[in-house]
Amino acid sequence: MTRVLSGVQPSGDLHLGNYFGAFRNWVSDQHQHDSYYCVVDLHALTLDHDPAALRKRTLDVATWLLAIGLDPEVCTLFVQSHRPEHTELSWLLECTATFGELRRMTQFKDKSDGQETVRAGLLTYPVLMAADILLYDADRVPVGDDQRQHLELARNLAQRWNTRYGETFVVPEAAIPTVGARVMDLQEPTRKMSKSTGTDAGVVYLNDEPAVIARKIKRAVTDTATDVTYDPAARPGVANLLSLLGASTGADPRRLAEDYSQYGPLKADTAAAVISAMAPVQERYRTLAADPGSVEKILAQGASRAREAAAATLLRARRAVGLLDPA
Ligand code: TRP
Repeated sequence: MTRVLSGVQPSGDLHLGNYFGAFRNWVSDQHQHDSYYCVVDLHALTLDHDPAALRKRTLDVATWLLAIGLDPEVCTLFVQSHRPEHTELSWLLECTATFGELRRMTQFKDKSDGQETVRAGLLTYPVLMAADILLYDADRVPVGDDQRQHLELARNLAQRWNTRYGETFVVPEAAIPTVGARVMDLQEPTRKMSKSTGTDAGVVYLNDEPAVIARKIKRAVTDTATDVTYDPAARPGVANLLSLLGASTGADPRRLAEDYSQYGPLKADTAAAVISAMAPVQERYRTLAADPGSVEKILAQGASRAREAAAATLLRARRAVGLLDPA
C-alpha cells in the first residue's frame, strides 16, 4: 500500500483555503493509502513565535483535523516534536545537504530577505521537512505548489544519501493536487487565501460564525461586468465564488456559472453553501474542543504508532552513516 505523509504548521488559524485545498484530500486519502499526518510544531519555531500560542495552536490544529474527518483508527495523526527521531534524522541529513543549496531555496530567500536577524533553523527548515518525509518511507507527499522546491530537495537528499551510504531511504514523489479548489483571497482574488498575506475580510476562517462567513462572502470583490462566467484569469473574483460554491456542493464551477446572471444570488448561494458545508465540521470541533484530553490521547496514540516506522528508518540511517550502535 502506498505510504502518504503530509504536514501542517500550527502557525495560524485555519481557513477555507487549507480545508478545500488540502485537508479534504487528506480525509479521502486516508481510506486509500497508509497515511501519516503530522502537526509540524518544530517548523513553527523558525520564525518569531509566542510559546503559549504555539502550544495552544498545536492542539487546536489537531482538533480541527479530527473535526474535518481524519479518523485516528484509519490514519496516524501525531505531533512532530513528540517523535524525537525527526530532529535526530534532521541532523544526519544536515550533514548531507549543502549550505549553497539551502541558501538558494526561494522560501528561505523570501522569509529572510530584509530581516535583521534570521534564525539558523529557517535555513535548515527544508532539511527537517525532508526528515519528516524520509523517516516514514513516504511514497507520496501531498503539498501545495509552494512546497515543490522543498520536495525536490528531499528527493535529492534521499538520492545523494543512498548513493553515498547505500540504499536507506525511499525517494518520495510530490503530489500537487490538480483537483480540489484553489481558494483565493476574497478581497484580492489574484492571491491565494492565506492568513499571512491576507486581510481579515478576505479570509474565511474555519471557526468563523455563519454570520461572519455570510458577510465576508457578500463583500467579496467581483468586477464591473454584469453577467456570470467562469474565467479565473480574466475574472478571478467571480471565479473564486464559483469555485467555493462548487467545492461546497460538489458541482463543477463552470457548470454552475450557467445558473447565474447576477452577483447577488451567486453570493447568497455561495455563502449558504459554505455555511452548510462547515456546520457539521464546526459542530464536531466544538465537541472535541470541549474535551482536550481526548484529543491529547489520540495524539499520544498517533505518536506511538509513528514510532514503529520512524525508529526503524532512523536505525537504518544511523548504521548506514557509521554511528556506533549503543550497547
Ligand atoms: N513546509 C510545509 C508547509 O509549510 C509543512 C511541512 C513540514 C510538510 N513538514 C512536512 C509538508 C512534510 C509535507 C511533508 O506547508
